Formats: sequence, C-alpha cells, structure tokens
Amino acid sequence: MEERKRILTGDRPTGKMHLGHYVGSIANRVKLQDLYETYIIIADLHTLTTKPLKEDVLKIRENIHEMVLDYLACGLDPAKVTIYLQSATPAVYQMNLVFEMLISINRLTNLPSIKEMARNAHIDPENVPFGLIGYPVLQSADILMPRAHLVPVGKDNEAHVEFTRDIARRFNQYYGEIFPLPQVMLSDVPTLIGTDGQGKMSKSAENAIFLSDDAKTVEKKITGAYTDPNRIRADIPGTVENNPIFVYHDVFNPDKAEVDDLKIRYRQGKVGDVEVKGKLIMALNRFLDPIRERRKQFAEDKGFVEKVVYEGTQKMIEISNQTLKEMMSAMGISGTWNKISRIARDYQGK
Ligand code: TRP
Repeated sequence: MEERKRILTGDRPTGKMHLGHYVGSIANRVKLQDLYETYIIIADLHTLTTKPLKEDVLKIRENIHEMVLDYLACGLDPAKVTIYLQSATPAVYQMNLVFEMLISINRLTNLPSIKEMARNAHIDPENVPFGLIGYPVLQSADILMPRAHLVPVGKDNEAHVEFTRDIARRFNQYYGEIFPLPQVMLSDVPTLIGTDGQGKMSKSAENAIFLSDDAKTVEKKITGAYTDPNRIRADIPGTVENNPIFVYHDVFNPDKAEVDDLKIRYRQGKVGDVEVKGKLIMALNRFLDPIRERRKQFAEDKGFVEKVVYEGTQKMIEISNQTLKEMMSAMGISGTWNKISRIARDYQGK
C-alpha cells in the first residue's frame, strides 16, 4: 500500500473550543483524518510566547483536558490521529535551536502575525520577547518533526508555513535531503463572526458560543446576540448579509428551505426576531446535542483524555527522536561527539 501523506496541525491550549474553531478547523480535521496520517499538536510551548508566567502555565493542564474533550466530541478519533503534547517531546527544543541558525531576524520581525500577537497580548512593540519573535521557528520544528507534507491552517498561519518551507529548503541545501517541503492547506471557510457582530468569534472578545455550552446558555447568547440594529420593529426590512443570526443559520441550520423563507421575510419586514432567533436556537441545539452527548461520555471516562494524549506523545517522541538523529548526523554534529566518545573510551592511559 502506498504510504499516506502526513498532516500536522494543532492549537495552543487556550481551553474550551467554540463554533468558530469547529467551522474553521475541527470539522476539516475530522474529514482529513480518513485521508492522511494526521498529527495534532497541543502547542503549549507556544503559549509561553505571550503568557510565560507560572500562573498561566498552571492553567494549561485543565485547558488541554477541555480542548481534547472537544476534539473527541467532534469526532476526532484517537485510532486515526496522533494527538500529542509539544512540551513533552524533547526533540522539539533541540530542533528549534538548529533552525534558528537558518533564518534571518529581519524575516521574522517583519511578519504581521507576530506584531498582531504582540498587540493582542498588550506587549510593548519595543519589548517583544525573543521567544515571540521565534514563534514561527518553533512552529517549523513542530511541522518538520514528523516530516509533514501538508499543514492545514488558517490564513493567519500561512506565512509560518512559508517560513517552514524556507527553513526546510535551507537545511536540505546545507546538509542533505532530510525534509519534504511542507505545503499549506488553507481552509476555504471564512472566519466565523461573533455573537456581537463586531469581529471574529473568539474567547477573549466574549462573543463565542462554546461547543460545551448547554441549551439554556445557547438560548441566552442567541437571544442577546447582535442583529440588524435598524430593525427596531418587526415590520422594518432587515439586512441578512453579515448578520450573525443569518450567518449561523447558513452554517448550522440544515433546513435550507426554512432559512430561505426566513431570509425572504426578514428582508421584507415580515418576520419578528423572536422567530428568526428561536429557529436558530433550535438548529444550534440540534447541531450541538450529539457533540454534548459524546463530550459527556468522554468526560465520564476518567483518565481517557490523558491516555489519548499520553499515547500520542509517546508515539511522537519516537518519531521526533528519529528525525533529530538523522538531522544531527547529516549536520555532522553527532559525529563530533561520537568521535570524542570513541577516543575517550579507547584511552589506555599514559
Ligand atoms: N500557530 C498555531 C496557532 O495559531 C498553533 C501551532 C503551533 C501550529 N504549532 C503548529 C499549527 C504547527 C499548525 C502546525 O495557534
């Protein structure tokens, strides 16, 4: 059988996942797991780039638990995907250092993604930590560790994959062909708008509906959600475009006839918000119910999430040690130590 291509992608462990994560990445991963050898990194070291304090680090474990529960609830299958913990794979620290030699500081500091991360974390642009500048280098080590061919990420991470290609290309040039050049696999879904209608759904903007929200919470969030502000009465024609209520209807309500009918009447001013939102609440809860059910089952199976991460990490430790070994050998670095060791062992004394 022909060897399947390898995919690597993942998330920083920020906790529970929301509908934006679902449409932006998780749903896609669930499809890809049947087509590719799939690796999912829990990038906890990357969280240190903006949150290095111990109090933040101590939250990571619980965040991982919640995030992996969401993965499993959505259908990522540990029999098909390798979910692993970045900080527990020693090779990544070592590869990171080697890759730092292969890229210029200018290329890193010019990346808009780094500036944006600094801004979001309220970091003074004059005092950006070295590690944050190095974020894409560490990400390159993640991607090249299992010699991934494809990296499914959002537009915001596209430059980082481009970067990884440059590093891989340079490594291969200097030392020999060790790495395939990874390709970005952009998801074609636009980012999901938040319930405030102001920007993309995100935890920090407090405009998110979480996969683990119960039915009552979803009802409350949708009832209070932004909709066309000009429609102060039900008989005023409304705008459907970029209206979060209709965006969610389009994505999560499988009853297209119902959605079309609501849109027509909304544009004519012939439907009340209560009906439009009520039908959305029902559709969202129908969508979330099976996810909630599976999440509950996995949560009740104490230790299962940790077992999945443990076994995935064991597997990645082996793979990455192999890659590191080949790297160090290609570079001649391990040769230095081997030679010193051999001579030292053979030393007979004067
Ligand atoms: N940078 C990703 C994010 O925005 C997380 C990440 C770290 C990642 N390493 C990766 C994604 C490797 C894909 C491949 O959260």
